[in-house]
Amino acid sequence: MDRIIVRGNGPLSGQIPIAGAKNACLALMPATLLSEEPLTLTNAPRLSDIRTMTELLASLGAEVTQLQGGKVLASGCHGEINPVADYEIVRKMRASNLVLGPLLARLGHAVVSLPGGCAIGARPMDIHIEALEALGAQIELKEGYLHAKTQGGLKGAVHEMRFASVGATENFLMAASLAKGTSVLKNAAREPEIVDLANCLRAMGAQISGDGTSTIEIQGVDLLHGATHPVVTDRIELGTYMLAPVIAGGEVECIGGRIDLIAAFCEKLDLAGISVTETDKGLKVKNRGDRIKAVDVVTEPFPGFPTDLQAQLMAALCTAEGTSVLEEKIFENRFMHAPELMRMGANIEVHGGHATVHGVSKMKGAPVMATDLRASVSLILAALAAEGETEVRRVYHLDRGYERLVRKLSAVGADIERIHE
Ligand code: EPZ
Repeated sequence: MDRIIVRGNGPLSGQIPIAGAKNACLALMPATLLSEEPLTLTNAPRLSDIRTMTELLASLGAEVTQLQGGKVLASGCHGEINPVADYEIVRKMRASNLVLGPLLARLGHAVVSLPGGCAIGARPMDIHIEALEALGAQIELKEGYLHAKTQGGLKGAVHEMRFASVGATENFLMAASLAKGTSVLKNAAREPEIVDLANCLRAMGAQISGDGTSTIEIQGVDLLHGATHPVVTDRIELGTYMLAPVIAGGEVECIGGRIDLIAAFCEKLDLAGISVTETDKGLKVKNRGDRIKAVDVVTEPFPGFPTDLQAQLMAALCTAEGTSVLEEKIFENRFMHAPELMRMGANIEVHGGHATVHGVSKMKGAPVMATDLRASVSLILAALAAEGETEVRRVYHLDRGYERLVRKLSAVGADIERIHE
């Protein structure tokens, strides 16, 4: 397995291009199942999760062709559709569950494996099931697979989710787009990736309004046509790279970054003493080398502080002046980066959903283990300003969500290399 070696190397300087959003693209790709006509996604990120979704869609009968080195995904689903999403693929990536709504809408039936748990939590699908049952689906769990079917097609309905689940909102949006009649989804997720999916579905002919708010209305249509849609900027990759100069010092401009995608995150940076400047190309972050101030964080659904940036901010707070308390309210086990940061000298106490970080003046390089996607990158960030050398193992986690990470950080002066084994 590949390893990444990072040596603390002083302040950074330069530009980092931000790619299209993994979590938008993983919801957009299954939309190809909704139409016989081609769906082309531009500004697509080049990630292993995208390749996994490509493999899954191909197993269902939808082909996805990567053009321009993977930045464009040309997909189509006009032949025979296989309604079974197999465990062997689904277990690799939870987002595979986003084919359930489209298959139900297009075919009227689907057999989708439950994804199973992952490092950060059990991640059940009850909210997805309730939402699709509201549209008239009958869904039964048999031998680890969800067997879903409809009598006479999906019908519009008013449904309130018990929690603003991102994935369940996406499954509902895609299913309701082809349901008969009007649907209203209450307590819907408000993430930018939801708005991006709604924009793409509208380009395909769907009639959707209210996306980005907690109440989304969908008028079902009989058919959806093809479209070309640009994937929205990845706000999590953006926030991740904005923390590189916060930790290592210097000034970095993140090309394509937008404040509206990460307002709650930028508010925390401001409280920590780091100012973010909007430029005509993106967002510029500068740290003259002062220690940042400790801040408290609670992760919440958008527009609250994103859980996917919690590990990365914790890495920055390890050397803050003072004590920070981070409360993780979205996932039940999302502090696995803490023990690894402690190997580098961090002073962190974890109790249930709370992590208390007592800032230390300097971290020290050490061999550490990546455990999940966002935890992995928090270790890389911490290593940028650590004394000595840090070796991060199991970096395949990183390849799921960060394209060309070594190249992007080297370009702004980081001493980082990937050892291929
Ligand atoms: C999406 O996951 C993202 N993944 C996650 O990013 C992100 O952390 C999460 O939203 C929250 O923002 C993609 O978009 C592909 P949820 P999703 O349904 O849709 C519980 C990353 O690092 N829940 O909003 O699975 C669930 O267990 C990944 O890029 C139920 O209980 O998130 C979790 O505790 C990690 N029942 C919480 O809700 C359900 O039916 C949030 O889940 C569904 C969810």
